Amino acid sequence: MSKPLVEIPAELANILRRAQRLTVLTGAGISAESGVPTFREAQTGLWARFRPEELATPAAYQRDPRLVWEWYAWRRELTAKAQPNPGHLALAEIERHIPHFSLITQNVDGLHQRAGSRQVLELHGNIQRVKCMDGNHLVENWDDSVEIPPRCPLCGSLLRPDVVWFGENLPVKALQAAWDAAETADIFLSIGTSTQVEPAASLPFAAKRCGAVIVEVNPQETPLTKSAQYSLRGRSGVVLPALVQPTWG
Ligand code: OAD
Repeated sequence: MSKPLVEIPAELANILRRAQRLTVLTGAGISAESGVPTFREAQTGLWARFRPEELATPAAYQRDPRLVWEWYAWRRELTAKAQPNPGHLALAEIERHIPHFSLITQNVDGLHQRAGSRQVLELHGNIQRVKCMDGNHLVENWDDSVEIPPRCPLCGSLLRPDVVWFGENLPVKALQAAWDAAETADIFLSIGTSTQVEPAASLPFAAKRCGAVIVEVNPQETPLTKSAQYSLRGRSGVVLPALVQPTWG
């Protein structure tokens, strides 16, 4: 048999196979191989002159709602065209083997659900969903031929993406469920996140304090790396399928 691209320690495969409660945290890195740019990569094309931190804020939307709406329309189209990659698919496969599985994501692209993951906690919302500024009404269809941003058909306030902007609170139920999943995990798998943005960045450290084995998947080091029992230095689209094979092959 050809040498696997990634060597998975045998004891890690054993621990995974025995796990009853596996909690996963993903960041933009898991969608990089689907062609969705990560947050800290430079933006491309006509958006290259903007930084996400300048656009994904309530102040930016108040200042120029049309610009922010059009940036999200561009990203909505980009993510709708993207396909789940082997890393997303491997997590959906792992979920089928674990009695208590939780997938916490900071991503707003919806690729985990499209890959078949079911227990998904979206900490930062979902770019494919749109809501209004005043009533938080979720709106499926909108007419952007008259006015941009369009208005809510129920209350007439401006529409916005159903994502968490910098400085906004995270969805309370999803965040509480994420803390519970971190604090009760046997294994906490942190994938494709720079572990820089709170409160998500604290979840793996809470899991460790509660006795979880910490596994990190990332081509780069992060603030979590030195606290991880296993640091798998590679792309999630390669490492995660390599985890599935020896464990549940
Ligand atoms: P970042 O862009 O901060 O970090 C992406 C991470 O993915 C980096 O650590 C990369 O090394 C890693 N990476 C890149 N390619 C990868 C691959 N193929 N496989 C595995 N890892 C890879 O994105 P996040 O950590 O997700 O918040 O950022 C967290 C939050 O910061 C975002 O959700 C967003 C941003 O502010 C909000 O919008 C509220």
